[in-house]
Amino acid sequence: MKKVTLLLSVITITLFSGYKKENPLYKDAKQPIEKRIEDLLARMTLEEKVMQLNQYTLGRNDNANNMADPVNDIPAQIGSLIYFGSNADLRNRVQKKAMEQSRLGIPIIFGYDVIHGFRTIYPISLAQACAWNPKLVEQACGVAAQEARMSGVDWTFSPMIDVARDGRWGRVAEGYGEDPYTNAVFTVASVKGYQGTDLSSEKNVAACLKHYIGYGASEAGRDYVYSEISRQTLWDTYMLPYEQGVKAGAATLMSSFNDISGTPGSANHYTLTEVLKDRWKHDGFVVSDWGSIEQLRPQGVAANKKEAALKAFTAGVEMDMMNRCYDNHLGELVKEGKVSEALLNESVRRVLRVKFRLGLFDRPYTPTTTEKQRFYRPESMKIAEQLAEESIVLLKNQNKALPLNKVSKIAVIGPIAQTKWHLLGSWAAQGNAEEVTTVVDALKAEYKDKAEVTYALGCDFDGQDKKNFEEAKNVAANADVIVLCLGEKKNWSGENASRSTIALPQIQEELAVELKKLGKPVILVLSSGRPLELNRLEPISDAILTMWHPGTPGGKPLAGVLSGRVNPSGKLSMTFPYSTGQIPIYYNYRQSARPHQGKYQDIPSTPLYEFAHGLSYTTFQYGELKVSATQIKRGSKLLVEIPVSNTGDRDGVETVHWFIQDPVSSISRPIKELKHFEKQLLKKGETKTYKFEIDPERDLSFVDGNGKRFLEAGDYNILVKNKKIKVEIVD
Ligand code: BGC
Repeated sequence: MKKVTLLLSVITITLFSGYKKENPLYKDAKQPIEKRIEDLLARMTLEEKVMQLNQYTLGRNDNANNMADPVNDIPAQIGSLIYFGSNADLRNRVQKKAMEQSRLGIPIIFGYDVIHGFRTIYPISLAQACAWNPKLVEQACGVAAQEARMSGVDWTFSPMIDVARDGRWGRVAEGYGEDPYTNAVFTVASVKGYQGTDLSSEKNVAACLKHYIGYGASEAGRDYVYSEISRQTLWDTYMLPYEQGVKAGAATLMSSFNDISGTPGSANHYTLTEVLKDRWKHDGFVVSDWGSIEQLRPQGVAANKKEAALKAFTAGVEMDMMNRCYDNHLGELVKEGKVSEALLNESVRRVLRVKFRLGLFDRPYTPTTTEKQRFYRPESMKIAEQLAEESIVLLKNQNKALPLNKVSKIAVIGPIAQTKWHLLGSWAAQGNAEEVTTVVDALKAEYKDKAEVTYALGCDFDGQDKKNFEEAKNVAANADVIVLCLGEKKNWSGENASRSTIALPQIQEELAVELKKLGKPVILVLSSGRPLELNRLEPISDAILTMWHPGTPGGKPLAGVLSGRVNPSGKLSMTFPYSTGQIPIYYNYRQSARPHQGKYQDIPSTPLYEFAHGLSYTTFQYGELKVSATQIKRGSKLLVEIPVSNTGDRDGVETVHWFIQDPVSSISRPIKELKHFEKQLLKKGETKTYKFEIDPERDLSFVDGNGKRFLEAGDYNILVKNKKIKVEIVD
């Protein structure tokens, strides 16, 4: 009997341990994520933990014969890879290696810069904000997420939400402009679009808020340099989009390159740990920017890579993107007791948590699909086109020069007119220029039998060659109107693309001057990744509109606006200065000691086109501003309303921007601050009421230099267009 019992126990133990070995708890999809994390963590060695915290790259290799090489080079235990593939084949092969050749079979998370689309490219973020349509941005990010996830990407390094006020900085193209609230609204929209409600769905990717934080303040618009940001400004200007993005559930953040008043973004314990983790309770992870850990050396806060690893890791950067600092030094730092095991475990937990939430442990491979199933689906193109249409801003329209509906010959001239590649904009992911419609082709299709469209290059983007001026003048002389398409190349904005002036190269301005001499109406069409200096072009243009870098739809949305099929409704998300010398210039500046003095002697002190400027083919009249009460106690809410009428001769869309002003406060406040916007379609002759429900604690309060919110008793102004109403908060 004893022998039988012993035998049974041996069998049971063997079976049980065998079972445990093949089906560890962390592999059981039915278990709660936190339990799975703890189970897995308990099994991991120091080396395995460290490897989870590194990101290398994979791909960049179009040659099918060579594809095996990078796979062989990738360690099976690597935590993450930046994936440059446009289909999932290579990913799946590397993932198989991770699942089958690493001891614990931990899946790799594949990240990529899906910034304004994956293959179907929609307008750059700066343009998207000009559409003032967060729902549409959410849908566009949803398209990007689906195309990316189906192509093997689990995680996008987007949205970029760096408030930016210096157009010389190339990266203004990647963010939502100069205003904290606008950036915050579009942060939430894009996070929702990318992540949906279920990260594990094959349509969604994890988002990454970047670049945390203050990168937009890079001195004089130079990239990678110092940024001087007081704690007050940090909270007033830069934190809000991140705070809202974290609240919206963004899975990850990226630490920034910039030195924030002496402590770089990638070694900043205050922002990364005290605020992000301790206060905001973010439970995902932070990845460094590319090289931003090893760059702590040239920034002068670390003597070598090991010290850089120590500083970044203990500040709160969990994953090392392409620095080779963590894989080489973190284990050693733990063994030496300089990094605690508790911190190491906590960091690994965070990375694993995102992987579990993405469902990577349960479905590590991306199902194979055809390009047709993934890319350019009609509904995706529709969203991209609508967003491009709505982001076009009509800056000037003298004597109703636009729309062009009574012309029989249109001359389209300039370096933007025939380009496909440059319309995609910076960070165009897997965008394919061949799919882009040029301005000339779009106008030919738009006007088909109605008008003749002719084309001449005129000049290149830059240089001094005027040999094509003559041909352009001849083409223009034969037309009723000149559509002059000027602007910037794709790579004139984006990373490491600073410019000393935001004016267009002289050759383009000279071409405009020459064409103006013909006495025909000049419609200036701009395509750029930043606001431009237009003070010399403005007087010689009858109408001006910007289509920014519109992405795959290319010239088609523009053609709709020029012909009048589409009534423009975009409004600027970033100020167009009168000239570069005004920079930094933005609407929400703080009041001066002498508001009527201190002006420039040589140029105007006001911008050429201010924030929220944008015209329509119809006219809107703003009625009487009404408020539900002029005096309220803390804790109650207010309703402000304004009727807006479409007084023109066609339907139109109007976005109303609501600003607040705190004229006297314990610290000086910006001259005005955007707190709400609303966009509505108004039919010809129709009047609609726009509303803003003011929650004083949220909308009238301000933060101190540590993020603490205050609502002070006293007067506040609510501003809409040129109307103002006063309300009082009483104790
Ligand atoms: C950029 C990031 C980007 C990363 C990965 C860096 O150089 O600053 O915005 O996400 O590279 O490509």
